[in-house]
Amino acid sequence: MILNTELEYKGNLFPSNIISYKKNLDTLSFTSENNVVLQVTVQRDSVLRFRYTTTGVFEKDFSYAITKYASRGYNFLEVTEEEDKYIVTTSKLICHISKIDMRIALFDAKDKTLICEDELGFHWEESYEFGGDIVKMSKTAQEGESYYGLGDKPVDNNLKGKRFENWVTDSYAYGKNTDPIYKAIPFYTGLHHKKSYGIFFDNTFRTFFDFCHERRNITSFWAQGGEMNYYFIYGPQMSDVVSIYTDLTGKPHELPALWTLGYHQCKWSYYPESKVKEITNEFRKLKIPCDAIYLDIDYMEGFRCFTWSKEYFPDPKRMVKELADNGFKTIVIIDPGIKIDKDYSVYQEGMDKDYFCKRADGPYMKGKVWPGECYFPDFTNPEVREWWSDLFKELVEDIGVKGVWNDMNEPAVMDVPGKTFPNDVRHDYDANPCSHRKAHNVYGMQMARATYQGLKKFAYPKRPFVITRAAYSGTQRYTSSWTGDNVASWEHLTIANIQAQRMCMSGFSFIGSDIGGFAEQPNGELYARWIQLGIFHPFCRTHSSGDHGDQEPWAFGKNITDVVRKFIEIRYQLLPYLYTAFWRYANEGVPILKSLVLYDQEDPHNHYRNDEFVFGEKILACPITEPNAKGRRMYFPFGNWYNIWTDEVLEGGQELWVDADLDSMPIFVKEGAIIPKYPIQQYVGEKTIDELVLDVYYKAGEETSQVFEDAQDGYDYIKGRYSLRNFKLLGKKKSLIIQQFKSGKYITPYETLKIKFHGLPFNITKIQIDNEEVLFEDVKLNGDNTIIVSKEFTELHVIS
Ligand code: GLC
Repeated sequence: MILNTELEYKGNLFPSNIISYKKNLDTLSFTSENNVVLQVTVQRDSVLRFRYTTTGVFEKDFSYAITKYASRGYNFLEVTEEEDKYIVTTSKLICHISKIDMRIALFDAKDKTLICEDELGFHWEESYEFGGDIVKMSKTAQEGESYYGLGDKPVDNNLKGKRFENWVTDSYAYGKNTDPIYKAIPFYTGLHHKKSYGIFFDNTFRTFFDFCHERRNITSFWAQGGEMNYYFIYGPQMSDVVSIYTDLTGKPHELPALWTLGYHQCKWSYYPESKVKEITNEFRKLKIPCDAIYLDIDYMEGFRCFTWSKEYFPDPKRMVKELADNGFKTIVIIDPGIKIDKDYSVYQEGMDKDYFCKRADGPYMKGKVWPGECYFPDFTNPEVREWWSDLFKELVEDIGVKGVWNDMNEPAVMDVPGKTFPNDVRHDYDANPCSHRKAHNVYGMQMARATYQGLKKFAYPKRPFVITRAAYSGTQRYTSSWTGDNVASWEHLTIANIQAQRMCMSGFSFIGSDIGGFAEQPNGELYARWIQLGIFHPFCRTHSSGDHGDQEPWAFGKNITDVVRKFIEIRYQLLPYLYTAFWRYANEGVPILKSLVLYDQEDPHNHYRNDEFVFGEKILACPITEPNAKGRRMYFPFGNWYNIWTDEVLEGGQELWVDADLDSMPIFVKEGAIIPKYPIQQYVGEKTIDELVLDVYYKAGEETSQVFEDAQDGYDYIKGRYSLRNFKLLGKKKSLIIQQFKSGKYITPYETLKIKFHGLPFNITKIQIDNEEVLFEDVKLNGDNTIIVSKEFTELHVIS
């Protein structure tokens, strides 16, 4: 920004000394002599909100990110005053507020160590161009501090030494280090001296984060407008920081229907209907499990949302039904751009009701997207969201579409500078009228929210399913997401791995990449390696752009088809395991994928690892991301790990070579784990589950595992109709005990559990169930360490 008269340019301004202090319940206000007010709100013992105004007056307190369901309340709060500072103490944190300059320092309440400290602290520049301030914050980096988070940034896990911008951007074929891309998640975690905290800068303007890039020991963040308004979250466990952030910005409102965790097939585009059928039939013929088929923009009439091409899809209702009969759920794309066409009802209604975005001086915001010249609904207006949600009635209720894919919602505009709306476009922002500078980063989120409302209404009593490309913090409440238009390259396979981990540690776990790459074409080897990674991503979908050949599991020859099938089958077997991890995420905000640093922050080796991650609680996976590999070196976090292919046990805390030919991949299970498995199905619900398999991995010691199940769709689980099995395993030299604690009212369709013991250091000579000895033939033990027992057991004892 060039500001060149003295009147316009005042440079950085700072709060002066504090002259007054007020307390109102959980909110403390400190006013400086130059009229800066700092409001500190104690949200929880471990969460403090810091909000500053430079004019003495705050904006209306409104946030799209913070959920009304966020936990609030604290156990302890005390404010004391010393000569040079105020001290705010909760049961977890001590906060010093300096009287001369409002600078903050935060300490662990237990051991009094310094966690986070302002350098310059809050400062600002007046913005002559737009009014208001450019609000800034700088903090001193602590010795050995590392940084993580920020959503979908396609860079190494550890963000130290880099600078980033948050401005959601359509980024076709982005590369490693491209910034910004599709999502704006202004939340990071810091880690030093084995303690972690998080900062969520809830400001929707273009924001920037600098992690010791500009100055070696300084971390700063700033925004082009709005307020300095951030939440400080203390762990000290990073996993707690992430779950508290997720509690604040929201967990998914429902569990996903189980089928949404199956495999999905997509392409730009499958049409006409005969092509769709050819693809879906091929899945069944080749016995490759698949639950969802996608229709990209060509299903519409001239790219008009909520229409169907009469030529390619003459009878969508019949087609969707036939696909459903074959186990396929149909998912359709819906973009925000509404074609300017007076004969098109959605356009007419939008005009009649005045729902389209307008420029500052009144004209409509006109922009080119797939249909040509379009207008764009203002999704930041609640009335528009309501209208939009109703547009899904026919698609969902009548035609039977099961999910909606929101794309281009950055919003993307073609052939214009910046590839989006100009700054002056006006938005309602839920009755806080503003320009696009403030609404840009939430536009896509609000579109996905409106779509979600539609699906929720019309799919009822089934659960909604939405996918979005653009997102701001909190979008995870409504929808799943993918990482946008990636490229079929080995480097992008690495990027996909890191992006999915990063999204999970940014509170957004329902994420996946376009498997195989969207732009260009993978060879069979790359595709197979990508599927291997993809089956560990919560959202698992192959997608590609039409220009570069076929990208179905069978497009690369039989060998590759076999590898792809094998791994998709593993995904289907692991569905109860993944579903349990999802339940933990939706319930407690526990990320489904855990980067090693999130899994064990105390081990400094983990601070810079990118490739290895823990899937759910117990499975360690590491994709092969190079061509012609026969295996790779990888780091094992502390603990003992079973190789799932060989049952060999490896000790953690070291880097080791692992063999993995193209039909294999490094996958390990934590010792002591109990992994639930379903039989292979071609789609969720194909089979009635008549037995649950439990793979039990021996450990000398204790370990707990969980299995969560319910009706796999619908809302009964909210009323307690779920089945939760808590297992406690205790292994000794000559025995193994498994205790089961069951809760919930859901009755699983199976009666028995098939328990497979791995790594038992002894031969089974005696088995007791609930203190009674059982005969081997009664549990069908015949030399293979596998037994079949009633699902109701409370204690199982196998003895040498
Ligand atoms: C965008 C999307 C891509 C989609 C295409 C056509 O590039 O990111 O997934 O296939 O538009 O709709």
